[in-house]
Amino acid sequence: MFPYSRPRRLRQGENIRRMVRETSLSPDDFVYPLFVTFGRNVRKEIRSMPGCYQESVDRVVKHAREVHNLGIPAVILFGIPEHKDETGSGAYDPHGIVQKAIKAIKDKVPGLYVITDVCMCEYTSHGHCGVIEKGDVKNDPTLELLSLEAVSHAQAGADMVAPSDMMDGRVEAIRIALDGEGFSELPIMSYAAKYASAFYGPFRDAAESVPQFGDRRSYQMDPGNRREALKEVALDIEEGADIVMVKPAMTYLDIIADIRENFALPVAAYNVSGEYAMVKAAAKMGWIDEKRVMLEVLTSIKRAGADIILTYFAKDAAKALGA
Ligand code: PBG
Repeated sequence: MFPYSRPRRLRQGENIRRMVRETSLSPDDFVYPLFVTFGRNVRKEIRSMPGCYQESVDRVVKHAREVHNLGIPAVILFGIPEHKDETGSGAYDPHGIVQKAIKAIKDKVPGLYVITDVCMCEYTSHGHCGVIEKGDVKNDPTLELLSLEAVSHAQAGADMVAPSDMMDGRVEAIRIALDGEGFSELPIMSYAAKYASAFYGPFRDAAESVPQFGDRRSYQMDPGNRREALKEVALDIEEGADIVMVKPAMTYLDIIADIRENFALPVAAYNVSGEYAMVKAAAKMGWIDEKRVMLEVLTSIKRAGADIILTYFAKDAAKALGA
């Protein structure tokens, strides 16, 4: 009897839907970002990122424990230093804010994997991701600072470093520096295809890293480019990246799928601040079902090919998944 083929047969109830579901989420998929600031007992909610906070080291440790207890394997740390300067010296200060946070978390919550964002923009007075000469970010001098930063994170006890600056050659420079200091076992997750995106707006409130002049289009990728992402990823793999990241995620699912298809390395995707803020804002207005939209967004990122999802929703999603 027409039609013989009825796909709806496999959608008749939750059990059969569970059995044929191609992509399911788990807390194992997530990395939760934490923002560390100076002071004691500080916990300031970020205006444009409800549910996310700038926290002093003592509070970040408590937060890290909560993340661990939810079954999320890893956090990624961002620092807001007390003082910023031209060369971002807080980034590679052995007593810097992120270095202190790494030590405290590894000491108090040893079961949690600690990744660090390696970049200069949170530490420079001008808010750019490197050394400025004649109004532009200079590539090669920046590599030296990024290498110092990565080594200092490793020395503080980080489990993995994640350079997010988009300078050319930085993965190799960091690999050589780490190996030279005895950290040849420490993996690098490179923000390989990082686009110059307006979706980072809320993060720049959170990290206080708005560029004081110009923008990041001379180093981050043009949103119109798809093939170029494959070139960036190929270069980072050649230079020694262990995991490659696409950022943002929701509006770059094609890029995630391309990279999944073309390379064997684990692929990470960063569900960025603006993507989080949009869902939170629409939910607050009562216009969408926050929990369902969140899970649908995260499922789509995984379905596109991401093995690892960096997301401000990690805790909410772990809870929704029954953690
Ligand atoms: C640092 C960095 C940024 C983000 C992660 N690392 C900001 C930027 O490049 O301007 C954005 C994360 C987010 O929006 O959630 N370079």
